[in-house]
Amino acid sequence: MPSFWELKLDLYEYQGRELFERHGLPVLSGGVATTPEEARAIAERLGGRVVVKAQVKVGGRGKAGGVKLAENAEEAVAHATNILGMDIKGHTVHKVMLTVTADIAEEYYFSYLLDRANRTFLCIASVAGGMEIEQVAEEAPDKVAKIAIDANEGVDDAKAREIVAAAGFPADVADQVAAIAVKLWQAFIAEDATLVEVNPLARTPEGRVLCLDAKVTLDANADFRHPDHEALVDQAAVDPLEQRAKEKDLNYVKLDGEVGIIGNGAGLVMSTLDVVAYAGEEFGGVKPANFLDIGGGASAAVMANGLEIVLSDPAVRSVFVNVFGGITACDEVANGIVQALSLLEQRGEQVSKPLVVRLDGNNAEVGRAILDSAANPLVQRVDTMDGAAKRAAELAAVGV
Ligand SMILES: Nc1ncnc2c1ncn2[C@@H]1O[C@H](COP(=O)(O)OP(=O)(O)OP(=O)(O)O)[C@@H](O)[C@H]1O
Ligand SMILES: [Mg+2]
Repeated sequence: MPSFWELKLDLYEYQGRELFERHGLPVLSGGVATTPEEARAIAERLGGRVVVKAQVKVGGRGKAGGVKLAENAEEAVAHATNILGMDIKGHTVHKVMLTVTADIAEEYYFSYLLDRANRTFLCIASVAGGMEIEQVAEEAPDKVAKIAIDANEGVDDAKAREIVAAAGFPADVADQVAAIAVKLWQAFIAEDATLVEVNPLARTPEGRVLCLDAKVTLDANADFRHPDHEALVDQAAVDPLEQRAKEKDLNYVKLDGEVGIIGNGAGLVMSTLDVVAYAGEEFGGVKPANFLDIGGGASAAVMANGLEIVLSDPAVRSVFVNVFGGITACDEVANGIVQALSLLEQRGEQVSKPLVVRLDGNNAEVGRAILDSAANPLVQRVDTMDGAAKRAAELAAVGV
């Protein structure tokens, strides 16, 4: 579930729609289907005139042919059949959502997001919705209102009115949009989201304002406050190594480079990623393949589990073990590495990828001596962080 620095969970539109519905936002009735037959049942229940929408975590579904209108259940089944299995920008469609079709007079855009650069929350709203907001911002920047939201003050009716005025929503929808702005903010805060986006927020010819799309990103750092969010994780899409690491209480995150990273403590691991990415530039853009934080303790068993997971990633070509001895002294870590390698051999794992080890801090000298006397041909000792990063990147570039 987590991805890199920002531990986040992107929801599928149907999950976002349900979340909106729970928070009292105006959404249309719908259902989600994994087969054309399920789609038929839902379309019949909804009265036949439905929109069939591909459920993938990527935008531009409409343009890719993943959003189709059906006049009756028969057509809905045909669309579902076409859309299920479709590839949209590298994402295979496994589910479609069917919702009642709305007649649309106008399409608006509305979102709240965490604005990291400015250390605030931000509302982005526009009366030119439907298409990508980045495009609107480029072509007609005056049509995109950006309003900072104070974390403590949030969005009350007065703030909502300020947003409505700034974006220039028509007077006849002002009340509805203001009410939506307040409710959407409440949902954003209550769910610990970092993004809620409605595009389009649509006005029907009768003047009703509806959320026709729902894009939600949740802050996974706040998972402990939301036991119900676990159910939103798409288990089929979870990296199996991340799953195994989680079962062993290890913090492992898959990235897309070539150097496996093991360190003790989140701060050290994060800076190791930067150092490796920087060193890798010299070797044709070698990057971290993953990272694993073995935490404070680094017993042989923990190190063996960590190494096993990092080495199981087929993208890994070298491993950088970066440890700064504190409470756990470097001699324990060194013993851990030596024992871990023999443990892995006993488990029948073929370890053939080079390990670059940097030990510093508490008992570093003793730790280094232990590595030297073990003289495992796969282990290379480099005593500076920059030097070790460079060596690991170089080994990854050469390949094994
Ligand atoms: N329930 C609905 N009734 C009528 N039209 C709809 C409905 N839902 C979506 N649409 C239309 O389909 C378009 C695309 O849907 P949506 O915004 O959900 O997908 P998207 O992935 O954002 O696609 P795109 O990037 O092409 O806009 C909307 O802009 C709207 O015009
Ligand atoms: Mg959209």
